Amino acid sequence: MKANEQPVAEQASAEDRPQPQPRNTFECRNLSVELRSSGGLACICRSIDFEVREGEFVSIMGRSGSGKTTLLRILGGLLSPTPGSTVRYYSEQVDGPPRGVITVFQNYAASLLPWRTVEKNVALGLEGKVSKDEKAERVAEALAMVSLSKRAKDYPWRLSGGMQQRVQLARALAMRPSVLLLDEPFGALDAMTKTTLQDELLHVYEQTGATVVFVTHDVDEALYLSDRVLILQGDPSTIGESVAVQCSRPRDQIETKQSEGFLTLRRKVYEAIMQGHD
Ligand SMILES: Nc1ncnc2c1ncn2[C@@H]1O[C@H](COP(=O)(O)OP(=O)(O)OP(=O)(O)O)[C@@H](O)[C@H]1O
Ligand SMILES: [Mg+2]
Repeated sequence: MKANEQPVAEQASAEDRPQPQPRNTFECRNLSVELRSSGGLACICRSIDFEVREGEFVSIMGRSGSGKTTLLRILGGLLSPTPGSTVRYYSEQVDGPPRGVITVFQNYAASLLPWRTVEKNVALGLEGKVSKDEKAERVAEALAMVSLSKRAKDYPWRLSGGMQQRVQLARALAMRPSVLLLDEPFGALDAMTKTTLQDELLHVYEQTGATVVFVTHDVDEALYLSDRVLILQGDPSTIGESVAVQCSRPRDQIETKQSEGFLTLRRKVYEAIMQGHD
């Protein structure tokens, strides 16, 4: 063998070589949450372990009251878990809202300010933080991403529910987040609007490379959007299943949802959620 020749075993192509694992954006270990209720302290979640990798789209599902919103609030640094729990954001213990993480809350209608125009609502988080020109640029960019450029000067109460939800998303996007925490963002919408917004969100996800943690009650929505679906089960809840969604991207509302892989996962997730109900 000549000096510059590689042994056959070492001639693996770049594709064959093991790819470096993405970093963990979030890492939760032994995570428990206790909240005060009328009967004293109630344990909501117990000994939860999971991680969210950089650039991953993860959905959280589970029955009402299983702690989905609570988990998002913990990731967003808005609530502290019980002592002994570990919640890390890029290896740093979370003890307040981490930089670059934006939460979009469950009750979107209540969070838009009716006396401000759409563009002024979208600019809300940028005020006093960036120059006037940069603010205008970011607001325009965010509104374009959610196809609302034409309604910039309107008031939110003049928009449909789906449009109001887009404004909420645009407000988050204007912050150029590296992580989006979304709590049932499309829960109250009709099926058509919902599928349109799902595709817009996937487009934004692909464009920005953000990490997304998404809460939903809709199995098809969770599978369609995600790389992984975590299912909370039990009371106090824990992660009963972590389902990897290996459907290729970009996804398509008809092709993806009719694929054999999707239908198999659909059944698996339904069964896991029903198990969480007994
Ligand atoms: N601020 C609070 N103080 C005390 N208990 C709370 C608080 N917020 C939520 N809880 C309790 O924590 C549990 C989980 O609530 P959470 O809102 O996380 O559920 P969820 O899974 O998001 O439900 P849903 O699907 O209905 O939105 C519930 O029993 C709820 O009553
Ligand atoms: Mg909730």
